[in-house]
Amino acid sequence: MAEPFITAKDLTYTYSGDDGESTTALRGVSFTVSAGEYIAVLGHNGSGKSTLAKLLNGILTPGGGTLTVSGHKMTSEMTDEEIFAVRRDVGMVFQNPDNQLVATIVEEDVAFGPENLGLPREEIRRRVDDALKAVGMYEYRNSQPHRLSGVQKQRVAIAGVLAMMPKCIIFDESTAMLDPRGRADVMNTVRKLNRDFGMTVLHITHYMDEAVQANRVLVISDGILSADGTPKEVFSDVEALRRVGLDAPQGRELMHALESDGIRFSDKPISAEECAACILARYQHANGICGGKEKEVFGK
Ligand SMILES: Nc1ncnc2c1ncn2[C@@H]1O[C@H](COP(=O)(O)OP(=O)(O)OP(=O)(O)O)[C@@H](O)[C@H]1O
Ligand SMILES: [Mg+2]
Repeated sequence: MAEPFITAKDLTYTYSGDDGESTTALRGVSFTVSAGEYIAVLGHNGSGKSTLAKLLNGILTPGGGTLTVSGHKMTSEMTDEEIFAVRRDVGMVFQNPDNQLVATIVEEDVAFGPENLGLPREEIRRRVDDALKAVGMYEYRNSQPHRLSGVQKQRVAIAGVLAMMPKCIIFDESTAMLDPRGRADVMNTVRKLNRDFGMTVLHITHYMDEAVQANRVLVISDGILSADGTPKEVFSDVEALRRVGLDAPQGRELMHALESDGIRFSDKPISAEECAACILARYQHANGICGGKEKEVFGK
């Protein structure tokens, strides 16, 4: 079997502040990620998500335990070339696109990464065009980034990472500053990268409806990995989520409230559509529309 793309074993990280105060952000986190997975990373504010992201692309190095990313053992002894190789394989998109755009013309911005790779001109041209097309920003290639909307800027930032052709992209709350339409837009791009280009995706988010779209969900709570499973597995345990300060997606929350009221469902769906269908079926069942022995439960 192929080596996992990421292997973390007992990974710890402690920040030491100037004032001598230290904060342990990760404490003994272990997991593996296979190439091509689409993973959502959830956790309360300050739980250690960004710290994990920074360890994965070599901005930080592990304080304890081991971390291997794309065949590279991440340590403080890594050479600049090794760190560069990891960053070429693992791209990062942050929350605020304004901090990520560096050039005055969109296509120059997207070319910045590939130029640093020292690629031939034609190859850079092709990568820039392909990346801009992949995020639907090709017709804005000659625009000035500061004239674009927030979501357009974020798409250009994603194109800049794509042009490096990384094996994996980490989105660290990259949709947090966008309106709901903009969020949906960027999420479509993220799904496409995973589905059509086989890119490994780690998506750090506070939005449960976004996490539902992943194949797997990791929950970090106070520096500890508190859940690791499919969205259905992780979100079916509403009480466990609450204990770490998170809510389930809205449909699951509604069903959980009904369950607490004594109403039983045969399934624990998580998407809004599936929850609506499940509640409707239960209602029809209880009211004899399709016949049903648990009629009294829903009618109380
Ligand atoms: N540069 C730093 N120096 C000292 N402590 C830090 C630093 N960066 C983060 N921390 C602390 O480490 C812990 C984890 O922070 P981290 O940014 O990884 O959390 P997060 O899950 O990304 O939070 P958020 O949801 O707010 O982005 C927090 O207690 C935070 O205050
Ligand atoms: Mg963060």
